[in-house]
Amino acid sequence: MITFSQTTIKEIEEIRRKYPTSRAALLPALYVAQREFGWLSPEAYTAVSDLLGVPEAIARGVGTFYAMYRNKPLGRHVVQLCTNVSCMILGAERLVDFLKNKYGLEPGGTTADGRFSLVIMECIGACGTAPAMLVNDDFYENLTEKYIDEILEKYR
Ligand code: FES
Repeated sequence: MITFSQTTIKEIEEIRRKYPTSRAALLPALYVAQREFGWLSPEAYTAVSDLLGVPEAIARGVGTFYAMYRNKPLGRHVVQLCTNVSCMILGAERLVDFLKNKYGLEPGGTTADGRFSLVIMECIGACGTAPAMLVNDDFYENLTEKYIDEILEKYR
């Protein structure tokens, strides 16, 4: 059994007060749980459900529907690389190969040292400066192989 920190409990209670129903508060509450535990484990779903008084099946339904929720443990840093049309035209597929060959980072996978996980995204709103990616919450655009090396060096 896992428990939230007192700070997180207060944050989720505050979120709950902003919404007309507990179900409506699920999206931000799950995000807060993910931030606290790193991913949404079965125990994290139980904790959110208990706190909001929402059936666990509803919470899991929401958390497994949206791509921004992590339903398995990931590396310390999550690389979200867009491979949609604009990024693909400007070389994203080559960057996927680069990450695989240089870092051992496969789409949906995690490096052996647990440093990075790679998630392939479908447009992150930077089509004009493609290819683009996020590392955790940090945004990067106009990517090249050299630039990716510089970026990833910052994340240990
Ligand atoms: S297609 Fe990659 S950011 Fe839009």
